[in-house]
Amino acid sequence: MTKQQAVGVDIGGTGIKAALVDLEHGALIGDRVRIDTPRGAKPADVLTAVREVLHRLDITDQRVSLGVAFPAIVRHGRTMSAANVSDDWIGFEAEKFFEDGLGRDIAFTNDADAAGIAEARYGAARDRNGLVILTTLGTGIGSAFLYDGVLVPNTELGHLQHNGHSIERWAAYSAKEREDLSWDAWAQRLQSFYSHIEFLFSPDLIVVGGGVSKHAKEFLPLLALDTPILAAVHRNAAGIIGAASLSHR
Ligand code: BGC
Repeated sequence: MTKQQAVGVDIGGTGIKAALVDLEHGALIGDRVRIDTPRGAKPADVLTAVREVLHRLDITDQRVSLGVAFPAIVRHGRTMSAANVSDDWIGFEAEKFFEDGLGRDIAFTNDADAAGIAEARYGAARDRNGLVILTTLGTGIGSAFLYDGVLVPNTELGHLQHNGHSIERWAAYSAKEREDLSWDAWAQRLQSFYSHIEFLFSPDLIVVGGGVSKHAKEFLPLLALDTPILAAVHRNAAGIIGAASLSHR
């Protein structure tokens, strides 16, 4: 039974979410657990919060593999950036830190890459050839590139420049909330972001994830692009599902 199940933890700039995942169907089993990301998101506090979500999930069988997704560039287990978390993560041996702190092996990956894997294996990008670009619109903007279903890790489209800053500060869902933008006003910003991506990469499909993808009807129809653009099937659970899926080899 454990073969078909794994736990996914998705650490975001705002919340830490976890669930048990059915790997055959790419679906959550039981309830998702969520707690706020600790203020400042320093390593020790994030580890405590991850312990707490795992405790609440109450899965003690160590044969159930565990995947952890994190909102930073992840190279060979090290976090190499920190846009919405503490700078302490830059150049930090994060995978080892979580493994030591949790007392078990984990698979550790970027959060948007995890979401991209979930959508490629079980969602909107399933059986899609060519270049699929998934973007997550949340606290920041994450991206995942999949070519013929194979992930090209650690793309960071949220850090394309806009007026001298990362474009995520202007176009992420958090900007809509912070500035109380209408769907229309926010969609104009997304238009500029996605047009630029379309021009740079000529993708075959764009998938939009993050919690706001549940409101896709409010803003996707407002975009004028040549590339098909779809909401992520797994919405905000994609990071959890992808992290779980990547933990299972
Ligand atoms: C980070 C990415 C992450 C994205 C979404 C960005 O600020 O640089 O690594 O995927 O936020 O969480």
